[in-house]
Amino acid sequence: MSSSNATITVNDGNNRQVAMPVLPGTIGPSVVDVRKLYNETGLFTYDPGFTSTASCESKITYIDGDQGVLLHRGYPIEQLAEQSTFLEVCYLLMKGELPSKAEFDKFQKDITYHTMLHEQISFFYRGFRRDAHPMAVMVGVVGALSAFYHDSTNIDDPHQRMIASYRLIAKMPTIAAWAYKYSVGQPFIYPQNHLSYAENFLHMMFAVPCEAYKVNPVLARAMDRIFILHADHEQNASTSTVRLAGSSGANPFACIAAGIACLWGPAHGGANEAVLKMLEEIGSVERVPEFIKRAKDKNDTFRLMGFGHRVYKNYDPRAKIMRQSCHEVLDALGVRNEPLLKLAMELERIALEDPYFVEKKLYPNVDFYSGIILRAMGFPTSMFTVLFALARTVGWIAQWNEMIEDPAQKIGRPRQLYTGHDKRDYVPLAKRG
Ligand code: SDX
Repeated sequence: MSSSNATITVNDGNNRQVAMPVLPGTIGPSVVDVRKLYNETGLFTYDPGFTSTASCESKITYIDGDQGVLLHRGYPIEQLAEQSTFLEVCYLLMKGELPSKAEFDKFQKDITYHTMLHEQISFFYRGFRRDAHPMAVMVGVVGALSAFYHDSTNIDDPHQRMIASYRLIAKMPTIAAWAYKYSVGQPFIYPQNHLSYAENFLHMMFAVPCEAYKVNPVLARAMDRIFILHADHEQNASTSTVRLAGSSGANPFACIAAGIACLWGPAHGGANEAVLKMLEEIGSVERVPEFIKRAKDKNDTFRLMGFGHRVYKNYDPRAKIMRQSCHEVLDALGVRNEPLLKLAMELERIALEDPYFVEKKLYPNVDFYSGIILRAMGFPTSMFTVLFALARTVGWIAQWNEMIEDPAQKIGRPRQLYTGHDKRDYVPLAKRG
């Protein structure tokens, strides 16, 4: 039971006071448990955008926005990015502990043997135009998985939830790579069980049936690290979407499709694609001041894409690692003087010296550098958010499972502050002006 509480005094003539428990976390802010507020006062809390609202209890990821800290099950993102692999991070996020060798070997085998898609799904792609945005394809194909794997839609069966979770983690690279292949008119490349998760994805993306394709180990390592950096991030918009969809009992494929749809927005996962378009629009270092000015102009809708974050009021720790990877990948590819990287670094330097960005604590976020690496690796801009969705699937799935197993969770159903018309009577058309 909580040892401290918060009291709300309602000065509306009745001078009611309501004491509500303050619940502490392991680390980070405590919460005021307002669940009884409406029943005791008839008042709702009001928090558009949930800037001060904790929607759930979770043990998966912790972020300290002021310190620029990101922990997955307690492990710092810097250590995971440097020492772990994406598949090991998947195990950690889902099961809560780092695996033993035997546990990891079995997990890796289980995932590997779920990477193929039902052959009928390959025909599903053919319903799209070739120029369909791959995110539209991802939403459609992932949502349709429930039509092919109906057995793992029984969310009350932990074994079926685990199979559905493995299927989603395993099949996302295949679904993503096939979305790309379909857009360029090349044949689908099937998963290869002898390849690692990242190698397999790059092989399905860039191999063609006419010749052998050897994955560049530097790019495979960079791809794996990029997946780690995007794996999970607390209760962000798309994760909250997955949780809300899941709270109704919807099947996991539908919930992940909802998360993909939300991630697509340019304010969220779509920012990596928007950063590249912004850098190409800026074009040269000489034009940076013009765009910085626009970003500060309240009358201009332009925002510096890849900058700012609801939680991080310091450098996004993922952006630091991404920037380091950027240099490594471009060096490995012999494109050290990539103009967009130079432009991005100059844009970052100028922005971080500008009082507007300093006082609003706007720093580069995970999306600022990722697009430059991905473009250098050969991905078209339209695939950037697809890669984000591929990697974030494990975070969505881990949070979805945690929600279903949480006895405190019930269907999410927020209320509102109603400012529309009071009751009024219908006026027949003949009597209207
Ligand atoms: C992701 O939540 C997550 O964890 C998301 C994510 C994850 O891993 O899941 O980290 C991934 O989505 C990263 C964010 C990617 N989006 C972008 O890079 C788009 C550009 N950034 C902004 O749109 C914005 O910073 C948000 C959406 C990221 C955060 O918006 P908030 O928290 O609602 O902040 P805000 O819009 O209220 O901005 C606060 C102030 C405003 O000025 P004032 O009204 O107070 O005068 O800062 C300004 C904003 O105008 N501002 C910017 C800016 N971002 C905020 N001004 C110029 N350029 C920007 N990028």
